[in-house]
Amino acid sequence: MDHFLYRDGVLHAEDVALTEIAAQVGTPFYCYSTATLTRHFRLFDEALDGMDHLVCYAMKAASNQAILKTLADLGAGMDVVSGGEYARAVAAGVPGDRIVFSGVGKTHEEIRAALVGGIRQFNVESEPEMAVIDEVAQSLGVVAPITVRVNPDVDAKTHAKIATGKSENKFGIPISRAREVYAHAASLPGLKVIGIDVHIGSQLTELEPFRLAYQKVADLTETLRADGHDIRRLDLGGGLGIPYERSNSAPPLPIEYGALIKETLGHLGCEIEIEPGRLIAGNAGVLVSQVIYVKSGEGRDFLIVDAAMNDLIRPAMYEAHHDIVPVVEPTAGIEQARYDIVGPVCETGDTFARQRDLPPLEASDLIAFRSAGAYGAVMASEYNSRPLIPEVLVNGDQFAVIRRRPTFDEMINRDTIPPWL
Ligand code: LLP
Repeated sequence: MDHFLYRDGVLHAEDVALTEIAAQVGTPFYCYSTATLTRHFRLFDEALDGMDHLVCYAMKAASNQAILKTLADLGAGMDVVSGGEYARAVAAGVPGDRIVFSGVGKTHEEIRAALVGGIRQFNVESEPEMAVIDEVAQSLGVVAPITVRVNPDVDAKTHAKIATGKSENKFGIPISRAREVYAHAASLPGLKVIGIDVHIGSQLTELEPFRLAYQKVADLTETLRADGHDIRRLDLGGGLGIPYERSNSAPPLPIEYGALIKETLGHLGCEIEIEPGRLIAGNAGVLVSQVIYVKSGEGRDFLIVDAAMNDLIRPAMYEAHHDIVPVVEPTAGIEQARYDIVGPVCETGDTFARQRDLPPLEASDLIAFRSAGAYGAVMASEYNSRPLIPEVLVNGDQFAVIRRRPTFDEMINRDTIPPWL
């Protein structure tokens, strides 16, 4: 459920009409709902009720300071994957002991910054990385808490570009080598082994792959404990999918996911961490865009809109589907038109949807891309010198611009002309 509904014939974000925001902010823009972010965070938090747990929002999904602060104020931890994300989490007021550091390529500098600023744990992805964390921790005279990310060789049954838990993927260490790697970790004085980490992919629409992975983690916990390791925390990653197409059957709910966690891992007495990103932010955001032209092609009509692949790359990159709806509610029973919905960028990949049924639209009409809150604004670029678009946060009947649209000069002035020119 989200808080983007038609009211008085206009699509609202909570109590604010998207037409009103468009009039003040201009299009295109991202708009997020506080109530939806809050609700989604709480669904996970409540799903793990009764277990010692921390929901660490995977901030790669949407990392605006206002979104982070909204979630941090609810008690969320953060899953970060870069020095920049670590700095953003700290800037939003998240204490170090609620920040976990994931990612396959943590640099010396990133590891140092996290150790100095405070970190809940590093999720270690390889032995070379383990050696560097040990070295940096020793040089600072501290001990780094770590889990090792194991790759359980499970098929997440999702898009190949976002599956991470198969043995051919670059993530984690093969679960078959875990005992050896943990023994090595335990011998390094700069490290303290506290648990196990696993993340098998994103946009999972079934529970079965999670079950297979978590059963392997349960077995591994017992094995490592028998080897003498103090395994007290399990980081189970993120990945629960969202319904991108309202007409399709829905993925499992957080409560069902929580029940699976309790069933597969509850007996171990471990503290549980999860790292959901998409489910918290995805349906908490829409991308609002305006039709520039309606162009009749051969056998098809194009809606040329002012958002483009640089603003929302998911359709071009993953063949992703986003529901597209008119901001002004269509008259009941109106005959649908069929459009290819495209942006102004100079490549054919800049196509959001092909042959999509919508009510007939005209230039200057507004449309909203639903489910755009996760991996939308954060994956945007300035390709074609299109400045990054604004982000707006709604809370009840209030809204605020949480990242404004840069001017062309701001964009241009980031470049520097060398002295010889
Ligand atoms: N934890 C780790 C270690 C991850 O790599 C990810 C996502 C998450 C948690 C959060 O997964 P989520 O709950 O959001 O599924 N750009 C792609 C998605 C990439 C996901 C990368 N890792 C997309 O637009 O579909």
